[in-house]
Amino acid sequence: MSFFTLQYRPASGTLVLLDQTRLPDVEDYLQLDTVEHIAQAIERLAVRGAPAIGIAAGFAIAVAARSKMPLPEAEVRLARTRPTAVNLFWALARMKKVWGPMAPGALDIARIEAEAQAIYDDEVAASVAMGKIGAPLIADGDAVLTHCNAGALATAELGTALAVIRAAHKEGKSIRVFAGETRPLLQGARLTAWELMKDGIDVTLIPDSAVAYLLGEDKVQLAVVGADRIARNGDTANKIGTRGIACLFSQHGRPVYVAAPWSTVDRSIPDGRAIPIEQRSADEVRQIRGLDIAPPGVKVLNPAFDVTPAGWLAGIITERGFTGPAIAEGLARLDAAPHGSGGDDDTAPTAIPRVSR
Ligand code: MRU
Repeated sequence: MSFFTLQYRPASGTLVLLDQTRLPDVEDYLQLDTVEHIAQAIERLAVRGAPAIGIAAGFAIAVAARSKMPLPEAEVRLARTRPTAVNLFWALARMKKVWGPMAPGALDIARIEAEAQAIYDDEVAASVAMGKIGAPLIADGDAVLTHCNAGALATAELGTALAVIRAAHKEGKSIRVFAGETRPLLQGARLTAWELMKDGIDVTLIPDSAVAYLLGEDKVQLAVVGADRIARNGDTANKIGTRGIACLFSQHGRPVYVAAPWSTVDRSIPDGRAIPIEQRSADEVRQIRGLDIAPPGVKVLNPAFDVTPAGWLAGIITERGFTGPAIAEGLARLDAAPHGSGGDDDTAPTAIPRVSR
């Protein structure tokens, strides 16, 4: 790929991030060597997307260890950044398993850095596996809707939903992608369109409000989206608007698939009601890049995510395999199964029957 989302430089103890707030016009890399700067980069979405937030938090713990910041303090600061993506808390817990037993004055920094890099490497492997497992769900000639950005910019490489799309494209299938612009911060317009165009994948940008039109005109066959947190029953939090998309797709008999690494599955909560939804600033809705598009001072509601009921989804693709439409049972099976295989034959997905209007 001609860009990278984030990389840790052990020689200087620095995290280098592509500043996603400036895309697509400016490709600028930030060099961050304090936990505070990394936490702020997560909060203002310079790095975003559930897996990438987890990876950044892992590297931030390495930065803290290098800069002699007390690790419990670093952990508290990072945990305050964004509440919905469970990958953040998952990565912090995974890092703590490594540094927790170490004496504060005698940290094994190389071991901490190696664990953060292992989180990154595992997410790369998960993306490759999700692509392989999910690609059969996309048929030659299909048009696929995606929402927000679940691509390389949201992970270490390739993405989740976009890993599936990239794999289908690489297999030689002729596919078209519709990218919803994703108001208010336009991750679809600014990031997904940019990424797919760089890869030479046919992408058409649509206003979020055009999804029902596409379905009504029979112009889209399936949707593949990412996730920020998946409850035990398969209820899925993803970028605001996903629930509306899933509602429209199920009304038209078209499938919506979620692609997410296992680090996004939160087995500790029974259903979507327990997922905390981040509320963001009013100015993100009142303005676009600092320019007022609404009366200053108008009241605003700006939830960053919504929860799609598992029953509206056709299945979840993870690096451990595909759940099929019985999502809660599928997640329980994948939780119990030995991992690392990239999916067994009996969990291999087949596209669910397509029903036209
Ligand atoms: O607010 P963002 O841009 O971090 O929201 C990102 C999403 O909702 C993605 O779809 C999700 O994190 C999955 S990324 C592979």
